[in-house]
Amino acid sequence: MKELKILAVIVVFTGITYWGVEPLAHSIFHPHVAPADFKFADLDRFEAEGTVANGKSQVEMNCIACHGIESEGIVAPMDKQTANMSYGVVPPDLSLAGAIYDETFLAGFIKNPAKATKTEHKFTGGKMHPMPGYDWMSNEDIASIIAYLKEVSTKKLEKEALELKAEMNSTQDSTEQEAIKKAAEKAHRKEVFENACGRCHDMKYAKIEATSDVSNYMGSTPPDLSMMIIARGEKYLTTFINDPQKHLHGTAMPRVGLNENAQKAVIKYMEETGDSKKEEREALAPWVLGFLGIMVILSFLWKKEVWSEVK
Ligand code: HEC
Ligand code: HEC
Repeated sequence: MKELKILAVIVVFTGITYWGVEPLAHSIFHPHVAPADFKFADLDRFEAEGTVANGKSQVEMNCIACHGIESEGIVAPMDKQTANMSYGVVPPDLSLAGAIYDETFLAGFIKNPAKATKTEHKFTGGKMHPMPGYDWMSNEDIASIIAYLKEVSTKKLEKEALELKAEMNSTQDSTEQEAIKKAAEKAHRKEVFENACGRCHDMKYAKIEATSDVSNYMGSTPPDLSMMIIARGEKYLTTFINDPQKHLHGTAMPRVGLNENAQKAVIKYMEETGDSKKEEREALAPWVLGFLGIMVILSFLWKKEVWSEVK
């Protein structure tokens, strides 16, 4: 009877710790955050139709006063230093914009950049976002701009795919071909990173230096991202990049509006730079487990052998 009472006490206290205290502590150390929202559901649904031709002229009239589109031979109108001085941040090249930003986000961003990036709290008292909002523009024209940006990015990526194919065909060696392909994929991830994050963040380990000095504009200096994958982990980054306010309420870092693929490319690139041994480590795990399994079987057999003599 006494043993049963002791057991009951142990069960009750273990239960309290397991179901009561642990989840509470866990929720304080790691507050629950809603998963990343790649539909950008807080922004208006956008269903207008546009044309590439109209988009091209709208972009020429409205956007290339600040942005370059390198793949189309459109050079940025200002050098980096002048742009940095005028806007506090260098307007990014738009060659890849149609491929990496979500459509709903782009429409919302063109209409109202501060709202779409969730940084309205920073632009008060007459302070304006450096990119003007085109809330006067018709939905058809905005849809056209997006159609044109998508066309530009598709053209660029198709051209790169052809170049890659030609390069791979230059050798018969399949390991060499695989290496060429891997290098091209990594170069693409780097480009996505530079487009989406590189105007504000350094990544010293990959020799990437921010194009802009945004400390004045942002009111804080963006951290170097070389080791951020280790410091914060993939799970945090997945929700943070998608919506920084979810983790750091009131932060200056804008929601950049990447679609799911582009965000994955960015995180993979951060992993390749800051945690380059991850693949090796994970590839080793099955071997270690297999080894342990064999040792368990061997020691069991050995124990049986030894004890068989005792009886
Ligand atoms: C007066 C200069 C100016 C004009 C005109 C302008 N932009 Fe921008 N744009 C900027 C600046 C500056 C940024 C960077 C803002 C930041 O980092 O906070 C930016 C950022 C962007 C981004 C990146 C968004 C993101 O989430 O990171 C896109 C896409 C973009 N602009 C598209 C356009 C399009 C399309 C037009 C024309 C309809 C346009 N811009 C017109 C200055 C401009
Ligand atoms: C327009 C500038 C800008 C862009 C673009 C930008 N960031 Fe940031 N980021 C910031 C600033 C400013 C901070 C510091 C925020 C603070 O101190 O509240 C920051 C902070 C961070 C942090 C640290 C968060 C933490 O928990 O401390 C990470 C991680 C990060 N950014 C990742 C990214 C990634 C990845 C991208 C590209 C997808 C990106 N940022 C694009 C300005 C930017």
